[in-house]
Amino acid sequence: MPIDQDKLMDFLHKFVGDLGATMAAGNVVVGERLGLYRALADHPMQPRELAERTGTTTRYVDEWLRGQAAGGYVQYDPQAGTYSLTPEQAFALTDPDGAVYAPGAFELALGALKAAPQVIDAFRTGSGIGWHEHDDAVFSGCERFFRPGYAANLVSGWLPALDGVQAKLDAGARVADIGCGHGASTALMARAYPNSAFTGSDYHEESVIRARKQIAEQGLDHQVTFEVASAQTFNGGPYDLVTSFDCLHDMGDPVGAARHIRQMLAPDGTWMVVEPAAVDTVADNLNPVGRVYYSFSTFLCVPNALSQDGGYSLGAQAGEQSIARLAADAGFTRFRRAAETPFNLVYEVRP
Ligand SMILES: C[S@@+](CC[C@H](N)C(=O)[O-])C[C@H]1O[C@@H](n2cnc3c(N)ncnc32)[C@H](O)[C@@H]1O
Repeated sequence: MPIDQDKLMDFLHKFVGDLGATMAAGNVVVGERLGLYRALADHPMQPRELAERTGTTTRYVDEWLRGQAAGGYVQYDPQAGTYSLTPEQAFALTDPDGAVYAPGAFELALGALKAAPQVIDAFRTGSGIGWHEHDDAVFSGCERFFRPGYAANLVSGWLPALDGVQAKLDAGARVADIGCGHGASTALMARAYPNSAFTGSDYHEESVIRARKQIAEQGLDHQVTFEVASAQTFNGGPYDLVTSFDCLHDMGDPVGAARHIRQMLAPDGTWMVVEPAAVDTVADNLNPVGRVYYSFSTFLCVPNALSQDGGYSLGAQAGEQSIARLAADAGFTRFRRAAETPFNLVYEVRP
């Protein structure tokens, strides 16, 4: 087949953008760690001033700034020789509590990519890679990638969208947050509902240890406990609310988890399932958000599911029909989509 030069140029254009973005991931993490974005948010400055303010070296900062400006992450004024951040760039690059925090997402990506050799092997053998086998940056990056979305939506939108749940939480409810990782969602709920008691659980011991430390630092440990347990075996109950944030699709046996959740719920309890935004057909997921999730899923979600018993590997773009089917298979009788954001779908599942 002859090569169409225009189509080739289009593709090369895309490839160069992606290659720049891939290297930019490391540069974003560097910029965050060294406080470069935070310092630059103050006022426009030349590389020397930014280096002085951050205790770094001008030559490195200069090169970093040029790459950042070429990528549209900072502004450059050639007359003054200064660099700056727009309010929008500062919002996404310097505020970990804002609705979008790009450095956390890039930390997750860099951490996940370290598993490339194991993923290559796994493609050949079909074996799995457990969440616990990844680099530490995956655990902290995951927390910092997801937490802003939870902070922006969980208490203000998602929980109120569930039938009768907010009133129970206000009055004092028992809540289990399964697959909780570092417990970002657990902490947000505990702070908002001081009369309720929360048990976070995750099969990954290191994450649970970290969650305990962070909850104590926030002074919420009287209200929240964390245990090392899988979604298929977690303890306690009956719970008024069980939550699963961005973890159901990671499990090898999500139906087993759903069955166990049903047993642990009070008869009028609710399971809130938060999953990545996706639709039911592959073709309709072929967009930038789908690309992000499918690509993370190849390195993280599918390998983790394949590392566990159960025979499932839903992947991060499972779609509503798959989740509804597994809830029905586990004996739940009511299922509805309660809320959505560009990155997440929220389902209300009831016995
Ligand atoms: C993408 S992370 C999400 C963590 C957290 N819920 C959040 O939103 O930040 C997926 C989590 O699911 C946990 N996980 C995977 N399989 C599990 C299982 N079978 N039972 C319990 N947790 C599991 C992992 O250890 C990891 O912490």
